[in-house]
Amino acid sequence: MEASKHIRIEEAYSMVKSIRVNCEGRKVVDVHSQIYGLTRSIIARMVLNRNYFASNSKEALEFKEIGTEYSHLLGVINLGDFIPYVGLLDIWGYKRRMMAARKRMDSIIEKIIQEHQEKTTGVSTDASINFVDVLLSLKNNKDYQHLSMDSIKALVIDMLAAGTESSAVTIEWALSEILLNPWVQEKAQQELDHVVGRERKVEEADLPQLKYLQSIVKETFRLHPPGPVLVPHESTQAVQVTGYDIPAKTRLLPSAGECMGNWARSFKVGKSTGSQSREVLKWQH
Ligand code: HEM
Repeated sequence: MEASKHIRIEEAYSMVKSIRVNCEGRKVVDVHSQIYGLTRSIIARMVLNRNYFASNSKEALEFKEIGTEYSHLLGVINLGDFIPYVGLLDIWGYKRRMMAARKRMDSIIEKIIQEHQEKTTGVSTDASINFVDVLLSLKNNKDYQHLSMDSIKALVIDMLAAGTESSAVTIEWALSEILLNPWVQEKAQQELDHVVGRERKVEEADLPQLKYLQSIVKETFRLHPPGPVLVPHESTQAVQVTGYDIPAKTRLLPSAGECMGNWARSFKVGKSTGSQSREVLKWQH
């Protein structure tokens, strides 16, 4: 995380700058695209060392297009997952689209991994090291000999898929709640003034002191978990849970919303401005 800190800083500042320029020119700012652009840029740079969102190359455009297709397909309800014969027919064509997107993504990732392998400079410096470099370097370690090229590709795709939408959607919800609750914005600004001041930019190192901001993020997670239903899990063997018999191969789709009590609809960040107050800390749980 420390090695990739500069990427998060550069991308966040560049987003803020672009919003400011648009505002000064009295142009409409598409906040949704800005936030998705931010998280996609950060993840693509951290994982692949590719700055796709500052580029209009053929590969960058294709990567962005596949990213949008992935985001869309992740959110659709595919009846075929629940009714097997409907799945075979693939009436809505989701399966076909998933396979096509997967194939296109696979060939881009394969090319990038090959390029990393061919790098003659050897191990990267701390500032440029990325997830693919780390995985490739593990292959030389005898404990990770089993790490195949397919596993590396799968891990890379996993990071890209899991790390982009989750953060973007959380930021978007947090901003929406702050807009709907102006007193929350006021208190967050007071805290920023108190902890950071107006003479410098916010840094990652400030985060532990920004308790009220943390409680906004946690309340956003409670009310708007990025995936209301978590990724499916399957029991590998028959077990008993609190007296119930669960057969092997039972698929579990935990409801994050229920677990986090998001039936309580109001956005309840700590009521006191004192960032260290008990009331604020109470909301961190
Ligand atoms: C708002 C931010 C995020 C939230 C709320 C979140 C939440 C989750 C949850 C609930 C799971 C499933 C755990 C399980 O049931 O097994 C998960 C899996 C995962 N997350 Fe995140 N995550 C976030 C951001 C990220 C980021 C930024 C990355 C990568 C840089 C990431 C990478 C992963 C990976 C690789 C998995 C495993 C997926 C798999 O099992 O195939 N996540 N995340």
